[in-house]
Amino acid sequence: MDYSDIAGDLTEVLLTEQQIHDKIEELARRIETDYAGRNILLVGVLKGAVMVMADLARALKMPLEMDWMAVSSYGSGTQSSGVVRILKDLDTDLHDRNVLIVEDIIDSGLTLSWLRANLESRGAESVEICALLRKPEAAKVHVDVKYEGFSIPNAFVVGYGLDFAEKYRNFRDIGVLAPHVYA
Ligand code: PRP
Repeated sequence: MDYSDIAGDLTEVLLTEQQIHDKIEELARRIETDYAGRNILLVGVLKGAVMVMADLARALKMPLEMDWMAVSSYGSGTQSSGVVRILKDLDTDLHDRNVLIVEDIIDSGLTLSWLRANLESRGAESVEICALLRKPEAAKVHVDVKYEGFSIPNAFVVGYGLDFAEKYRNFRDIGVLAPHVYA
């Protein structure tokens, strides 16, 4: 889905498909260098991370494995609480694995903070995070993100995997949702 298909629902395009593509290539080069000679397991967090995962995995010029988790944060409305429930767990044993968690966005940081600790407790050799977007103004806890794409304002963003009420995930760019859509 392109901008012309949903122009009326957005106030602006924050990041274009090309900008996202270039950033993912840049992150992939860093990851290749850092993980040279090591087996890497990409762990995608459903559902938002599907686009980043698909593009990052294909950009990486190295053997890798992919697995998925689905988690749900208990909380009211759109606010996460830090209490996380696993809806779909990994199929992979993490013992001695080099895990790279792949996320679309870090908002409060509560989900990733919990997830990292959870995966570390399973005997992984290393656990690092790659997140395409981060909202510094929304942070409630500090999360050490080794591979960060873009730092963005605290706005309601959709596209490239990010949804509002499950819609807009297939928008190619990342845009700011117009208030009339969610008000
Ligand atoms: C989003 C995103 C992260 C989480 C970040 O997922 O993919 O997992 O929220 O928020 P936090 O930093 O405040 O914890 P969401 O719960 O919207 O589910 P989805 O990926 O299925 O859209």
